[in-house]
Amino acid sequence: MDFSRIIIEWYEQNKRDLPWRETKDPYIIWLSEIILQQTRVNQGLSYFCTFQKDYPNIFEFANAKEDEILRRWQGLGYYSRARNMIKAAEKVITDHNGVFPTSYDALIKLPGIGEYTAAAVSSFSNNEPRAVVDGNVSRVLARYFGISEAINSTTGKKKFQNLAQEVLTKQDPGLHNQAIMEFGALQCKPQNPDCSICPLKNSCYAFLNNSVRELPHKLKPAKSKNRYFHYFVIRKNGAILVQKRTQNDIWKNMYELPLIETANALDNTQIQLSAPYIEAFGTETTIIHKSRTIKHILSHQNIYACFYEIKNVDEQLMKNKLWNYVLIKDLDKLAKPKLIYTFIESFFT
Ligand code: ADE
Repeated sequence: MDFSRIIIEWYEQNKRDLPWRETKDPYIIWLSEIILQQTRVNQGLSYFCTFQKDYPNIFEFANAKEDEILRRWQGLGYYSRARNMIKAAEKVITDHNGVFPTSYDALIKLPGIGEYTAAAVSSFSNNEPRAVVDGNVSRVLARYFGISEAINSTTGKKKFQNLAQEVLTKQDPGLHNQAIMEFGALQCKPQNPDCSICPLKNSCYAFLNNSVRELPHKLKPAKSKNRYFHYFVIRKNGAILVQKRTQNDIWKNMYELPLIETANALDNTQIQLSAPYIEAFGTETTIIHKSRTIKHILSHQNIYACFYEIKNVDEQLMKNKLWNYVLIKDLDKLAKPKLIYTFIESFFT
């Protein structure tokens, strides 16, 4: 089919040199694809290189401690992806004798692997004819074929998946998949694509109908929830108090400072008079420093965070808590959410 042939020709002339394209090793491809679901290629490159160097095969990955993996994942966000990778690695060791699967049907059964990743790994490593559909691919298809269904609606997703499979070249599905993703990333860009140099312009619905700006359609995401985080810096002998998040919530198993979460924004007096504050620190404390409020946006929530340095805390009360003093110079070793390590870097250096 011309569509695929033209995109592959374009790819051969315009593709970036990317390290994960030089291998057929399904483990390495899986690493790269999970990282790239979290970030853009430029930022993903350094994470990919670190993971490939430190865990060159599935055994090294499966043997690593969760803390170590989370620390290397630090900054990518969506840490449950990293935890699912560990579960997937363990399953490859136990169910597949450490041989990373290349078939779509086996891949899709692994934790954290959905249709996209199973299609990417099976087509790149083994040329299985499974079409990948990500944001780049659906944009190319929506514009070229003039598809008006929203790319993130249930019916839209089905439609784009079917169409992607229809146009997939069966001779070299891996190459086709790489090519259409790259075409979406570099040529058929979300904003201001240069259609004048596009090899598909003479048959592109959106170009011919002046609707490149309108397509693809997208449903508005659900409204984000607001959360108010009050973090406390409590020092003793070159150390500060740190806690590990263990609840089933964002940042599970990562480290942060002692936290009080409230339903609304509070001023200094309100926070010091609140029940959880008095229960944790007593009534004699002084706030010696307070940061500005930092808005930290996640996919379905806005975190409004404030950091307070306080003194004269009641040490007796803190005995029961799951808090530990960690030397400031050792904080580096802990996996922390971006919000926390950005604060620590600016506050202690
Ligand atoms: N984004 C997701 N997967 C990719 C790949 N294999 N190459 C470039 N960008 C990507």
